[in-house]
This record gives sequence, structure tokens and C-alpha cells, in this order.
Amino acid sequence: MFPLLLLLLATAHGLDEMSYTPTLASPKLGGQTTASTFVLEQPRCVFKVQDSAVIWLVVAVPEAVPNFNNSVGPGTPERAFQGFPTNAPAYMTLNTTLLNYPCPKPPGEITVLRVGSETNCIKDEMRPTCNGPLPGPGPYRVKFLALEGSEPVAQTAWSEPITLRTARQPGSTPAMGSGHSAGMIALTSILSILFAILLAGLVAMLVFWGSDACGGSSTFSKPEAVTVRRYNTHHVYDQPPARL
Ligand SMILES: *[C@@H]1O[C@H](CO)[C@@H](O)[C@H](O)[C@H]1NC(C)=O
Repeated sequence: MFPLLLLLLATAHGLDEMSYTPTLASPKLGGQTTASTFVLEQPRCVFKVQDSAVIWLVVAVPEAVPNFNNSVGPGTPERAFQGFPTNAPAYMTLNTTLLNYPCPKPPGEITVLRVGSETNCIKDEMRPTCNGPLPGPGPYRVKFLALEGSEPVAQTAWSEPITLRTARQPGSTPAMGSGHSAGMIALTSILSILFAILLAGLVAMLVFWGSDACGGSSTFSKPEAVTVRRYNTHHVYDQPPARL
């Protein structure tokens, strides 16, 4: 009776907790997050389960983590990418057998997973396990879950909250752009000052050259006389209304 009870307990709690926390890949390996994707290290040498077990990645909103139900299987509406995060608090994707995470990993091999890289199944309800682009900056928490059949057999810890880039971060380019334009302004003002000096010199040279070469002063006085004459005639035309 007692051994049977123990056996029952063992099967009921047959979920192995792996002391592994999913982590973002280092930026060296192209691990930068984008507005809709992030890159995780593959869970190599983590699971001690049968080769037939399928390792899933669970992506969840942080609120779903404390009472997360592992028995809700992949592909159900509550775990569908298309319903995340409004109708599904988490989705399950990137399923692969343990054989695809060989251990030890060959040295130098890049062993990462890009979450959010599949765009052709975003709206395809027939593909609830779509590895589609994440719907916003998050934060999100992820874990790996191993299933044998539909039975959860092992899991990792939940990751730290992962926050993606927001649309504001490309806006940090304007800060760079303004620094760029400040340099441009300095250069432009230096150039325009130089140009002004050059222009002033040219004008001064022309004036000197003009006054030296021919009777420049007379040509200046002639238009003056014309304007005076014009002014006089204008004045004369003004007089008739004064006479009335
Ligand atoms: C992943 O899961 C889907 C849906 O359950 C299945 O069609 C597909 O064959 C699985 N892929 C792998 C590599 O296990």
C-alpha cells in the first residue's frame, strides 16, 4: 500500500526541475534583441530525459508565471501564438527533440535560438506553435519544457523578464543625428565666415580696381544726378493737385 502511494506520488510529481535558467545569447553571437525578437542560448546539456522527449520553449507574460499550468499542452487555444497575450497568457513554440540539442556542444559552434523569427504563420490559426514576432516590448519570461507524449517530464527555471527594444530606441538615432548636425552647423558657419571674408576681399579689390582704372567716381555721380532729376519731375507732377 505505502510503496504504491509513493509510486503514485512519484508519477504525479514526475516533473524534473532542471537547475538551468534560459539566458539571452551574448551580443557577440548576434544576441541583440530587436523590437520583436530575442535570441536565447540553446539548452545544451540541460535535460536528462529520453531522446524521444520533445523540448518546447514556453513564452509567457510575467503574470502567468506564478500559477503556470504545464498540463495545458502546446497547440491548445490557451497556448496559441495567435492568441498571445490577449487570449493566451503564454505560447509554446520551437519544439524539437533532444537530439537537436546534442551534448557536449561542439566548441565554437553557435548554438542559439531566435525567438520571433517566423513571419509566415502570424495569423495562421492552423499553426498555433508559430515562432512569430513578439507582439510588443514585453517583458516576457521563458522556460524550456520537455514533454513525452503530452506528459510534462522536465522543465527549466523561468528566465528573468526579457524586455525588447521599443520604437523609442531607434529614436536614439536623432540624438546621434543632432550631434552630427551640430558638427555640420560648426562646419557650415566656419565655411560661411571664410566665404564672407573672401567676398569682402573681392569687393574691396573691385572697388579699388574700379576707382584706380577709370573715372569710377563720375559713373557713381551720374545715376545720382538722374535720381535727383526724376525726383524733381515727380515733385512737379505732384504740384497740380496742390493748385486745385
Ligand atoms: C512540433 O510540433 C508540431 C505541432 O505539434 C508538429 O507538427 C511538428 O512536427 C513538431 N516538430 C518537431 C521538430 O517536433
